[in-house]
This record gives sequence, structure tokens and C-alpha cells, in this order.
Amino acid sequence: MDIIGKKEIDHFKRDLIDKKKQDGSLIPLLQSAQDTYGYIPERAIYYISELVGIPAAEIYGVITFYSQFRLKPLGKNIIRICEGTACHVNGAKSILSILQNELGISVGETSDDGLYTLQSVACLGCCSLAPVIMINDETHGNLTTASLTKIIKKQKRIEKIKSSYDAN
Ligand code: FES
Repeated sequence: MDIIGKKEIDHFKRDLIDKKKQDGSLIPLLQSAQDTYGYIPERAIYYISELVGIPAAEIYGVITFYSQFRLKPLGKNIIRICEGTACHVNGAKSILSILQNELGISVGETSDDGLYTLQSVACLGCCSLAPVIMINDETHGNLTTASLTKIIKKQKRIEKIKSSYDAN
């Protein structure tokens, strides 16, 4: 069950009813669900399906077609890998494979513990530092396999400390 207040749910439902009056309301309805929950939960799909009279399976098809929509919440940490030209020629491929191994997820996925989401972008705007990744708001450039492994290990240590702190 999502942790979300009644106020947000009421807002979501009001928004849906307003948008339903528009033509081609499905996309705005899905955007509203995602804005409310941070992703599109199953129960929102069924609610929208009832509202617009489109089968839920068809709505799933639309969601998976558009990369802007998510069926799972984003992870606590967003890791973006740049696969633009400068990064590509400077080894983005090996950087990506280390990230995938270390995190146990592929691009577009979130780890089962909800700690990491891996995304790929076309350019992070700092090509002179290629290859580059961003962990949340922090940029890490001139990466080598060794430096990246170190960064990820450090990130994992920080998360471990945070979670043991939260548990107490
Ligand atoms: S191509 Fe990677 S930062 Fe621009």
C-alpha cells in the first residue's frame, strides 16, 4: 500500500474527473496519477480504466509505450549514466556494465531494495569530463573502472549507515 495522504488522493480524483471531460484524456490522466504517486500504481490504472471505459490491459500498453511513465516508484538514489558521444568514445559502455553489475539492475530499473534507479541520458552537459555519471545531484567525471567501483562502494556504505541509523 502506498503511503499517501487522503488529500492527495482526493486531489487526484478531482483532477481525473476534470480531465475526463477533455478529448484524449488518457495521457493527462496518467500524468496526473504519476504526479500524485510518483509512479502509476495498479489501483490508479483500474480507477482510470473505469472512468474512461478503456480496458486496463490497453492502458498498460500505453504506459509501457511512453518512457515518461513508470510502473514502479523511483529509487531513493537516481544514478544517471551519460551515453552521449563524448562519453561513449571514452568508455561509457564499460562504466555502464560496472554499474549494472554493482547495482544488479539494468537501465530503467530500480533495485528491489528501492535504493537505486539507473537511468541513461544523452548528455549531462559536461562532456570535457567524459565519461560521466550523476548520483542524485552530484557529478562524477573522468571515470575509470577503478574510480567508479570506489564511488559505488562508498555510496553503498553511506546507504548502509543511513539505514542502520533509521532503524534505531
Ligand atoms: S556526452 Fe556525456 S556529458 Fe556530454
